[in-house]
Amino acid sequence: MNEAELYAAIGEDGISGMVAAFYRRIRQDDLLGPMYPSEDWEGSEQRLREFLWFRLGGDPRYVESRGHPRLRMRHMPFSIGVAERDRWLKLMREAMEEVDLPAAAQLELDAFFSQVADFMRNRED
Ligand code: HEM
Repeated sequence: MNEAELYAAIGEDGISGMVAAFYRRIRQDDLLGPMYPSEDWEGSEQRLREFLWFRLGGDPRYVESRGHPRLRMRHMPFSIGVAERDRWLKLMREAMEEVDLPAAAQLELDAFFSQVADFMRNRED
């Protein structure tokens, strides 16, 4: 599956639904929930949704409003080790399952998320 096929299989709405399911979990999560700005859940959800539209589908609005993603730098304010990485990935896997993304798309996305999440680690455990 190349990126165009991946995007066709999930669609913009599929990404929105997945990100909504992910944030329902993040909000309740004992480890990750407190890291997010509690007064701006809508904003956080919008940033991830638009980043994924951009990164996977090409919709440019994330870059128009936020500039170059620079994700590693933007995660520096948060302490991210193995536990945080693994929790993020667990919640995202549950979200993909909940919205019933095609299995092949889940596999592709999982590989992508795993790589980016590992790159976000900024704490030696
Ligand atoms: C490894 C564990 C991770 C943790 C603990 C984490 C945590 C956070 C937190 C606390 C924020 C700030 C929320 C906000 O106000 O937007 C954030 C932002 C963001 N995260 Fe993560 N994140 C992780 C992994 C990832 C991964 C794997 C991706 C992408 C695949 C990602 C994409 C983003 C994006 C796009 C933003 C918004 C950046 C911006 O425009 O300011 N994060 N993350």
